[in-house]
Amino acid sequence: MLIDHDVIILGAGLAGLRAAVEIARRSDDRVNIGIVSKVQLNRAHSVCAEGGTAAVLREEEGDSFDLHAWDTVKGSDFLADQDVVYKFVETSPTEIILLDHWGLPWSRRDDGRIQQRPFGGHSYPRATMAADKTGFFEMQTLYDNLTRYKNFTRYDEVFVTSIICEGGSFRGITMIDMITGEFNVVRGKALLIATGGLGNLYGFTTYSQTVTGDGQAMAYRAGMSLEDSEFLQFHPTGLVPSGILMTEGCRGEGGYLRNKDGDRFMKKYAPSKMETAPRDIVSRSEMTEIIEGRGFEGPKGLDYVHLDLTHLGADKINHALPLIREVTMKFLGLDPIFEPIPVRPVAHYSMGGIEADINGKTRMEGVWAAGEVACTSLHGANRLGANSTAECLVWGGITGAEIVKYLETNPSMSEMPTDRVEEEEKRIFHDLLQNDGDENPYQLKTELRQIMDFHMGVFRTGDEMAAGLEEVRKLKERFKKVKVEDKGKIYNSNLINTIELENLLTLAESMIVAALAREESRGGHSRRDFTVRDDEKWLKHTLITLTDEGQKLTYKDVTIDKWKPVERKY
Ligand code: FUM
Repeated sequence: MLIDHDVIILGAGLAGLRAAVEIARRSDDRVNIGIVSKVQLNRAHSVCAEGGTAAVLREEEGDSFDLHAWDTVKGSDFLADQDVVYKFVETSPTEIILLDHWGLPWSRRDDGRIQQRPFGGHSYPRATMAADKTGFFEMQTLYDNLTRYKNFTRYDEVFVTSIICEGGSFRGITMIDMITGEFNVVRGKALLIATGGLGNLYGFTTYSQTVTGDGQAMAYRAGMSLEDSEFLQFHPTGLVPSGILMTEGCRGEGGYLRNKDGDRFMKKYAPSKMETAPRDIVSRSEMTEIIEGRGFEGPKGLDYVHLDLTHLGADKINHALPLIREVTMKFLGLDPIFEPIPVRPVAHYSMGGIEADINGKTRMEGVWAAGEVACTSLHGANRLGANSTAECLVWGGITGAEIVKYLETNPSMSEMPTDRVEEEEKRIFHDLLQNDGDENPYQLKTELRQIMDFHMGVFRTGDEMAAGLEEVRKLKERFKKVKVEDKGKIYNSNLINTIELENLLTLAESMIVAALAREESRGGHSRRDFTVRDDEKWLKHTLITLTDEGQKLTYKDVTIDKWKPVERKY
């Protein structure tokens, strides 16, 4: 089937939905929007966002754009583009107020004003919250608001297999309707990629099983560059053994981290910020405690430290952290009002992504990217907590507005290159589905995640990463013999999971290649063999591009227009 839309939005998480609302409200139902999501619309991983959305709401009480921007730049280990950061901090308050007007039930202070709490690396409590279910309420509010408009079509449980571009411009996408198994083609004048992160590269992760980097991998194959892929964030408090996120809000509300001797060890590593230091620093501190024998022995090698909320009291936990209590009780039979929670660093966020400019535009004509899938260079080498949901809202809004402007220039709907569509159909339904191999995709995925957990963790060395790269390349070879057991059409999750695995393998390789090349330690990229930040050689963004000659690494400058890099101390 051939379908046409003026704009295709790929991914229906926070960024995608926010963009859809922006396009709908600005275009007066004139623009025909297609929203494609591989899950049901309100099951995007954004609903799992817990702790908050950063925004300056209280200038009269001491917060300011300068302060939020400085915190973000310092938190990024000076790799963030400062013009992007400024645009972000100036825009995020408007998003909070818009969502308030659209009905979001923000938590409130006793004086009735919107409540905010402290978060890691922020020098003012600016994580705007809806208890610890912030993403869930943001998604609900955006979707409720979107239903006021008529000009969008939902494609739920539809898996996109390729982005087709020609001559440097966007043409369309190919996709599998998972319910019928049909292979469809959608032409579009504009595309927004908003497919989120790639966290299923890791075994111990906060991400839903569905987060497999599809948007990044497809963009890369279509000729777009990936930027700063080596920077993967480990959140300090993943619940052991499941990896479920224990929000930074726990520490923002006053929770402590303790080692097995009961010591609040953060005093050694970040004496002024303690538990609310930025995530890269807290994660390294926890791993140091564990490696030096001051952690608790955990299951399957998942040694841990304690997140202690017992001094906060039942009222605070029930008001500000109800989900945390529910999850620890359900998953561990542990009530955090009375007992500390076992936690350790967990794969949580990709600072890198599809290279995009300050307005979310990629170098491919007609293609924008927003949210975690994009790298506008907001987060540099380490993202501050609560800046991600804010980023999704801000760049959902910006890209939505930009796309409407673009469509007003009347770009034409281009022909889809039929040979490319046929090639893609053959790749999926012949080469992959009918492949007569003997490799099990789930076994390959398990091995890939073990490799990434082991070789690309909080601390890295060149030798370990090189060994990891070799292992990943062996898996890529084995993937050529992969066998999809289910040959059926209807809801063939076996086939979809195999395509997802191919995407993950592509991204694992590019992440390690970029990381091996960066011979310094900065933010989330901490090397035992190059332990210091080297601004002389490495104050630059990595770009990795697929060319006719293979994978190519290039670099570009960081925009530094306000603050020169200094030593990063907390
Ligand atoms: O800890 C958290 O609630 C996570 C927030 C974030 O990643 O921004």
